[in-house]
Amino acid sequence: MLIAEKPCTWPVVPLSAKSVLLRGAPLARKILPRWAQRFLLLHMLGVNRPYARLRAVASRLCLERELLPWIAQRYRHVLFVGTSSYTFHYEDLFRRDQYTTIEVQPRGAAWGAADHIVAPIEEIGRHRPDGSFDSIILNGVFGFGVDQPDHKRRVIAALHRALAPGGLLLVGWNTDLHDDPAPLLLPYFAPAGEEPCSERRAFAPDETHVYDFYTRRPDQ
Ligand SMILES: C[S@@+](CC[C@H](N)C(=O)[O-])C[C@H]1O[C@@H](n2cnc3c(N)ncnc32)[C@H](O)[C@@H]1O
Repeated sequence: MLIAEKPCTWPVVPLSAKSVLLRGAPLARKILPRWAQRFLLLHMLGVNRPYARLRAVASRLCLERELLPWIAQRYRHVLFVGTSSYTFHYEDLFRRDQYTTIEVQPRGAAWGAADHIVAPIEEIGRHRPDGSFDSIILNGVFGFGVDQPDHKRRVIAALHRALAPGGLLLVGWNTDLHDDPAPLLLPYFAPAGEEPCSERRAFAPDETHVYDFYTRRPDQ
């Protein structure tokens, strides 16, 4: 007997594995452990592929091989601002209870440390007591979300409160993206004076990225 074929009533949506994974991202963040999220993002979605060049440039190698290991040796509690698929392994440079990350985007939590805060850095005071950190790394945040002078001022005031007296602030920024943030920073921070963080690290002519180092001034 021939059965008449029924017209399909389900919408036919051509979904690639990638779009299925992306659509399920908020759910995946809730139910999957971080290692599984990272595996999917790195090995199935290839989220790190666009950053292959970035991960090999001199400024990034300086951060990963010189500055972060030095900070890890010297400072007890460290806060890293802004997480991405190419920063998650920085956690391995630190002892377990030494390293905290903060990122405004919920999706950045997959790349955060075991101690990770989902919030804008200017609200760090809602999540940790003042003076909680001995060093704060603010790399690639000015010019990448914190752009206007007023916003920068709020971030700088929050960094000053979060940092312990004498603590080290590392500011990584791009000279072609915005003005030098020094005039905004100097009321709160003094230039740091100790090697390898005694003066600006620059990577010209190949890069516009620089690192500046500051220590927290006492409360005014
Ligand atoms: C260019 S990436 C830099 C990532 C990382 N800090 C690094 O060293 O490469 C900028 C990151 O800062 C985050 N970001 C921007 N504004 C922020 C804020 N107010 N608080 C926390 N994270 C912020 C962005 O969401 C993004 O993930």
